[in-house]
Amino acid sequence: MIVIKKEDEIEKMREAGRITALILREVAEMVKPGVSAYELNEHAERRLEELKAAPAFKNYPHPSGGKKYPASLCVSVNEEVVHGLPTREKVFREGDIVSLDFGVIKDGYYGDSALTVGIEPLSNRKRQLIKTTRESLYQGIKKAVAGARLGDISHAVQTYVERRGFSVVRDFAGHGIGTHLHEEPQVPNFGFPGRGPLLEERMTIAIEPMVNMGNWRVRVKTDGWTVVTVDGLPSAHFEHTVVIRDGEAEILTVVE
Ligand code: MF3
Ligand code: CO
Repeated sequence: MIVIKKEDEIEKMREAGRITALILREVAEMVKPGVSAYELNEHAERRLEELKAAPAFKNYPHPSGGKKYPASLCVSVNEEVVHGLPTREKVFREGDIVSLDFGVIKDGYYGDSALTVGIEPLSNRKRQLIKTTRESLYQGIKKAVAGARLGDISHAVQTYVERRGFSVVRDFAGHGIGTHLHEEPQVPNFGFPGRGPLLEERMTIAIEPMVNMGNWRVRVKTDGWTVVTVDGLPSAHFEHTVVIRDGEAEILTVVE
């Protein structure tokens, strides 16, 4: 069931989105050679306490059952696609691309956002990958309007990415969001225009293209969480939580 939010719920999601974006921006600014993913997670958890919000990902049960996600921030470097663990050993180096995925719960409502930053000097191809992934998210967001279909978003992301010679990950998707991190509908990054559920006023969804430099195949590492590309080539990830408001997409995971 797709949940249409009420006005006061959207206001709470704006606040959750604002806190998500603020902390995500702070940890993104910490990405420098010699800094570890662990330090970023520690900073995020400190800031959550200060801002009286809870982490959305900590103890989240793995989709395939059992194991709970042990941290508040996902840190995925180079060939890691998503759900990378913020360990002490994961120390950033020049030329890395670092995907950060973060979500909060504030007043019972969720925010969820991701971005990828590169550490200079960066290869042109990695820079293109990051830019294409970010732009593909905005192509998708543009299609999140009342009266359109979910497939319009999926198709816009896919065609933007594939025209530039990259590929979209197929095993993971965006999602509805609200009083749960994952609500209906699923928001795939590939599909056909005019297909899927009708988009309506006050629907809230997280759009999150995961884009590979090589082919779309991914696998999960033996730590049970980290998703990596099968071909070992780099991957990038961007995500915003959006609401359809006055017919158009309003991005919730922004600061102010
Ligand atoms: N943005 C990701 C998602 O929507 C983050 C989930 S991490 C998890 O699936 F630990 F919560 F699974
Ligand atoms: Co998400």
